[in-house]
Amino acid sequence: MFDTIAPRYDLVNKLMTLGLDARWRSRAVTLLSLGPGAVVLDLACGTGDLCRELAWRGQHAVGVDLSLGMLQHAWRGAPLLQADAVSLPLRDGAVDGVVSGFALRNFADLGAMLAELGRVLRSHGRISFLEVSEPASPLLRAGHSVWFRHVVPLIGAAFSDAASYRYLPESVAYLPSAEEMDGMLAAAGFADVRRYDLSGGIVRILTATRRGRQDGVEEAA
Ligand SMILES: C[S@@+](CC[C@H](N)C(=O)[O-])C[C@H]1O[C@@H](n2cnc3c(N)ncnc32)[C@H](O)[C@@H]1O
Repeated sequence: MFDTIAPRYDLVNKLMTLGLDARWRSRAVTLLSLGPGAVVLDLACGTGDLCRELAWRGQHAVGVDLSLGMLQHAWRGAPLLQADAVSLPLRDGAVDGVVSGFALRNFADLGAMLAELGRVLRSHGRISFLEVSEPASPLLRAGHSVWFRHVVPLIGAAFSDAASYRYLPESVAYLPSAEEMDGMLAAAGFADVRRYDLSGGIVRILTATRRGRQDGVEEAA
């Protein structure tokens, strides 16, 4: 599906978020709380917008995505790898941080993906996930629902692939509850989980810190 929508992915993204996605991505990188020189994996990087944001901050981005089509349309300023999130071609503790934009609902096995991130992150490394969410306010929720479930598929049909942009709003159903996600994060070695709602709650950023480990023995958080 992502190979199919890759050529017009950036255009449809800008239209369906009214350009707000740039602000959300910038905040996701800020909340990673890493300085210049940090090595950061952009997991499921797509066309590499987060890689570009990381590079702009003087960080060393590495983009990984399963879709060759997305990588072929990606920004070329960072090394790009085609790989599955559950089997990353990176050594243990290789990265200081991981960002991921709008990808959580696409992973078939979230627990396995988080365990793999726990492996490639150094002790006290950081994660920052940007994902769609539902506003708490009933009024905003109603407006958002019309936009996401009716307008987004129309934009997708006009500029890209209708079936894919019908699937994208539906895929929100695959997101786990906050409690389930907390359990999976703890099992994968993450602590200090925080959530930040942006733009009235239509998107949310989740951050967490990899617990420390010494000589292969897990330390307390
Ligand atoms: C909605 S796009 C998000 C792209 C980009 N992160 C962004 O913020 O625009 C989801 C991406 O997840 C990738 N993806 C889905 N399953 C994956 C997996 N198992 N491993 C790596 N990438 C995956 C897709 O190929 C696609 O590029």
